[in-house]
Amino acid sequence: MKIAMVGAGYVGLVSGACFADFGHDVVCIDTDPSKIERLNAGEMPIYEPGLDELVQRNVRANRLSFTTGLAEGISGAGAIFIAVGTPSRRGDGHADLSFVHAAAAEIGKNLDHPAVIVTKSTVPVGTGDEVERILRESGTDVHFAVASNPEFLREGAAIGDFKRPDRIVIGTDDEWARGVMREVYRPLFLNRSPIVFSSRRSAEIIKYAANAFLATKITFINEIADLCEKVGGDVQDVARGIGLDNRIGPKFLHPGPGFGGSCFPKDTLALLKTAEDNDAPLRIVESVAKVNESRKRAMGRKVIDVLGEAPRGKRVALLGLTFKPNTDDMRDAPSIAIAQALIDAGVEVTAYDPEGMELARPLMPEVAMLPNAYEAIEGADAIVIVTEWDAFRALDLGRVRELVRAPVLVDLRNIYEPEELRGAGFTYISVGRP
Ligand code: UGA
Repeated sequence: MKIAMVGAGYVGLVSGACFADFGHDVVCIDTDPSKIERLNAGEMPIYEPGLDELVQRNVRANRLSFTTGLAEGISGAGAIFIAVGTPSRRGDGHADLSFVHAAAAEIGKNLDHPAVIVTKSTVPVGTGDEVERILRESGTDVHFAVASNPEFLREGAAIGDFKRPDRIVIGTDDEWARGVMREVYRPLFLNRSPIVFSSRRSAEIIKYAANAFLATKITFINEIADLCEKVGGDVQDVARGIGLDNRIGPKFLHPGPGFGGSCFPKDTLALLKTAEDNDAPLRIVESVAKVNESRKRAMGRKVIDVLGEAPRGKRVALLGLTFKPNTDDMRDAPSIAIAQALIDAGVEVTAYDPEGMELARPLMPEVAMLPNAYEAIEGADAIVIVTEWDAFRALDLGRVRELVRAPVLVDLRNIYEPEELRGAGFTYISVGRP
């Protein structure tokens, strides 16, 4: 089947490349000519493990192409995905749907054959109705249906998540559209990946409810970690002890400096706006958003506390800046608030991140970015592990001790064993552990 992907951002590009790998004929369309130029030259606009190779392989097989021309791109496509950005609207936290609406209008203007228009962008409940209205008003007279097909992939593990999903959600009541979507996901059907068919509105809610629930799980364990610190428990044991209960599950119970990224912070806010507008308050999600926001800066204070009475003029090395490993994404990364809190206290900050420094630099201009972990650590009064990149899991502790001014390690991801670090002569502070 020919598939058109409108929007070659994170979700669009990964989904497009994976659909091509399933054997479909995929065209990715983007209004940004420089992005399309780079893609056509074989350059990836984002860092995602395995994406390079996947794109190249499918371009070579003539199953994947990139264009700025929407009319040409959607021509003959049985499914046209809208995978454009839905950032937070400035000022009120609502999802900004202007890109989705513009894409729908443009598709409507050019659609000359029956097709299913599928929203993959994360959009508030009711957006599918709006997309349908825009398409109708654009004057197209061909048969079409609008379906919702939210995406659950994680940055850094996107290709695996797409090809081996926990489930696929397809929201439409139109039988013909369901058939088209079955064809789109045929290889995953054959793999017996669970497929949830629902109404369009339910599918739109599923996406936000899933992200809000995961954000809640993280925030819950973060607060339990704080309690453990106060009363002398070990949050790792607590997480394991509760996670082995099948009703709770072990995933997303890793305490840390708070969730960041392009999804959880923005999606929880957008969901709260929908809840408020519909007079159905979501008090739990409200608390999650608040608790998480204040946690990021609190982690900065946790670091300042270990610097003693006079933090001013001391030096702290941040290892890891991105909101999680295996991405260069800096959106809402806890490192931003942590670095700012340190700088506000007069602390000198150095940093190293394997992929994120280019995007981090403008967000923290006062932080000195260094070419590797050991250079960042040199002369530090404290080292802080902010993001759990594999490269930081096996630091040469002897070398680290020689380089630092004081052997103090604040591990905000609990990637080291306290005994090991203390045995190596470090003052070791982690999250929710004695
Ligand atoms: C998240 C969801 O996991 C995906 O299912 C969803 O498709 C995506 O948002 C989206 O809506 O597009 P992502 O933001 O890429 O994916 O990253 P996650 O792996 O979920 O991590 C989010 C944040 O939570 C990170 O800052 C991470 O460090 C933090 N986290 C995660 C924890 O602090 N503890 C955990 O146990 C898990």
